[in-house]
Amino acid sequence: MGARLEIYGGTDRLGNKEPVEQISLKAGDSLAVVGPTGSGKSELLADIEQLADGDTPSRRTVRLLINDSAPDARVRASSVVATLSQRTNFIMDITVQGFVDMHAASLQKASGAWAGEVVSLANTLCGEPMRENSLLQRLSGGQTRALMIADIALMSDAPAVLIDEVENAGIDKYQALSVLRGHGKITVMATHDPMLMLSSPFRLVMSEGGMRSLLSVSLEEKKCRATLSALDAKLLYARELLRKGGTVQEGYFA
Ligand SMILES: Nc1ncnc2c1ncn2[C@@H]1O[C@H](COP(=O)(O)OP(=O)(O)O)[C@@H](O)[C@H]1O
Ligand SMILES: [Mg+2]
Repeated sequence: MGARLEIYGGTDRLGNKEPVEQISLKAGDSLAVVGPTGSGKSELLADIEQLADGDTPSRRTVRLLINDSAPDARVRASSVVATLSQRTNFIMDITVQGFVDMHAASLQKASGAWAGEVVSLANTLCGEPMRENSLLQRLSGGQTRALMIADIALMSDAPAVLIDEVENAGIDKYQALSVLRGHGKITVMATHDPMLMLSSPFRLVMSEGGMRSLLSVSLEEKKCRATLSALDAKLLYARELLRKGGTVQEGYFA
């Protein structure tokens, strides 16, 4: 599906015109949205989620085009944007399989092997495996988010996925991003994690509620990403070791 997400600048919190006038993303692209708390990241995601039409505080316009035309109201109503936020909790008393089957039915997808596929993919994103007969309410925060990402990647028709600061979610965040991109989703992600910022080819810098500048990851930054990735792996290793009651020695981290 040739989807394109277009964002047209409006005004920042002070009412000034935003320096970034237009952003265009295609299937498989990902955009990292960065900036301090209060800089307007969540507002931008909300504008995208609602496909703002000059009718939000930022006065931005957002269009999602599928094969170069805007989807009709019926398609829009069935959601063109999937959202993953920090606060995701299931309240249904049902198994993972029951949930996935129900979701497949609501999307008018043929019933079948969805649950197995979704669970296998989810288990590549989270250290603690779940099973098809696990109860939703018993899943940890990390398992819940892994399930939602796998569900979005495999089942949702929504061409765009919004992610608001999931770094502490207990999932392999880089793998999650690559799974979504690999399934052709347009991913827009607010994040404070330097590795995630550098994992996206584009980076939007926010301040005072406005889109300040749009950067592409440079060759130099790609090299930094490799160095940081090695550091990140060491941090992760130390964390796992210490969590399991182990001890660390300086030689490990040289
Ligand atoms: N362009 C804008 N115009 C008007 N208000 C804005 C704009 N951008 C953000 N805000 C408001 O500023 C506050 C902080 O923005 P928010 O998106 O929550 O920041 P962040 O997610 O980066 O912490 C919110 O109340 C939001 O509604
Ligand atoms: Mg926010």
